[in-house]
Amino acid sequence: MERTFVMIKPDAVQRGLVGEIIGRFERRGIKIAAMKFMQVSDELAGEHYEALKDKPFYKDLVSYIISGPVVAMVLEGSDVIKIARNTMGITNPADAAPGTIRADLALEIGRNVVHGSDSVESAAKEIELWFGKDAFAWQRDVDTWIFE
Ligand code: RTP
Ligand code: MG
Repeated sequence: MERTFVMIKPDAVQRGLVGEIIGRFERRGIKIAAMKFMQVSDELAGEHYEALKDKPFYKDLVSYIISGPVVAMVLEGSDVIKIARNTMGITNPADAAPGTIRADLALEIGRNVVHGSDSVESAAKEIELWFGKDAFAWQRDVDTWIFE
């Protein structure tokens, strides 16, 4: 079973979209392994987006992420890194496919409502950074109806 890190960004929290977004992952069959509602510090934002620090949009991105509370989650499932990103849609909502979170709930790349890890390596790094050991294993009784 694979794990990924997903964050509901401050714009989605402010707009009251937390339940809508979590519901889309839940309904797909993805399992929640950890979740917390929190204010991101400048330091955590800097570490999380370290790989993007030379990008022209980096400063705006950090201001956006620390502008209000977020919901941080560890999600679990078969191939969940790819599946969570496909459920979110591609980075720019203007190009995202209808039916995805970003296409259905957002308009602009700088207010694209969710984050998801993009590889096995970044998922491991982000889960450790945001949760440490707080993502625990639990038995979900419907798993045999979701995983073959
Ligand atoms: P994410 O990390 O949020 O899941 O998105 P991603 O992998 O699809 O995109 P990434 O390149 O990692 O960019 C992280 C976030 O930075 C903002 N961004 N703005 N103005 C721009 O050109 C631009 N490009 C990226 C977006 O909020 C993106 O999700
Ligand atoms: Mg990314």
